[in-house]
Amino acid sequence: MRCVTFFMPELLAKMDKYPGGVCLLVISVDIILEIENLVVRRGDRTIVNAPHLAVRRGDLHTLIGLNGAGKSTIAYAVMGIIKPDSGRIIFEGRDITDLGITERARLGITLAWQEPARFEGITVGEYLSISAKNSVIDGGDDGGTGGVEKRVYEAMKMVALDPEKYLDRELGEGLSGGERKRIELAAVYLMRPKLAILDEPDSGIDMMSIYEVIGLIKTINAGGTTILLITHRQELAEIADRATLICAGSPVLTGTPVRVGEQFEEMCWRCSDRDFRLKKPGEPKPEECEEYEKYGV
Ligand SMILES: Nc1ncnc2c1ncn2[C@@H]1O[C@H](COP(=O)(O)OP(=O)(O)O)[C@@H](O)[C@H]1O
Ligand SMILES: [Mg+2]
Repeated sequence: MRCVTFFMPELLAKMDKYPGGVCLLVISVDIILEIENLVVRRGDRTIVNAPHLAVRRGDLHTLIGLNGAGKSTIAYAVMGIIKPDSGRIIFEGRDITDLGITERARLGITLAWQEPARFEGITVGEYLSISAKNSVIDGGDDGGTGGVEKRVYEAMKMVALDPEKYLDRELGEGLSGGERKRIELAAVYLMRPKLAILDEPDSGIDMMSIYEVIGLIKTINAGGTTILLITHRQELAEIADRATLICAGSPVLTGTPVRVGEQFEEMCWRCSDRDFRLKKPGEPKPEECEEYEKYGV
């Protein structure tokens, strides 16, 4: 059994001390984000209770679950928008639980809101240029390609907005929710964060087809950004490498989207609009509850 020497020749010397030899197979999974024992309470309710959730670097990882399951709350805790009552958030091996939003953004985490923000007094063009200049993966370097403006135009085209019509408009009340949502996706594309949390990127995007959203998400992911995608749309969930089902504030199952989709209705009861309960093994259906529908749509 000398196979260790093929992988780790530097251990060869030690083999003499262990004459029997060791055959080691080291499988290392690169985890970019890890959540440990995360608890968020509001009043007397525990809205998130996540003992463990891990996202692998480079993955497109989706969180699925009905409205009210706790998905956005998990996203806000990772971005630092809310402070958890307990637990830890680890990013690239570093405990970021006590860091603020700006520090987390500097480390390469970005959140695209379910309801995108309005910015009065700043134009779409200015907002996207700032995003391009702050790109994390390439440090804002345009590689001498004459860059920022060209990239902004390209990003606008990717979200199917005409740059000539939009770049000088203010990013405020004058734009619809769907338009702001597309501009936010364009900003994520330009920022090239290490981790992008996309909270229901398809919601409110009426004119842009789901397939355009999928294309853009895949492009962002292919550019080296790990994506945590929150959705309850099956078409979106199925593009992911891995999926985690969130039920009643807890991750209950992680696996391929197909497997998680198949088991979705097996895992949770839907007991009212805001009451989702984990099924206990062998438990008969509580009177006030219904079966969860696949993907919750
Ligand atoms: N600030 C808050 N105060 C009280 N309840 C909240 C607050 N924020 C979220 N909730 C509740 O926590 C649950 C999870 O919300 P959320 O994370 O937005 O779910 P999802 O994104 O999966 O739809 C919901 O029942 C919601 O009403
Ligand atoms: Mg939400």
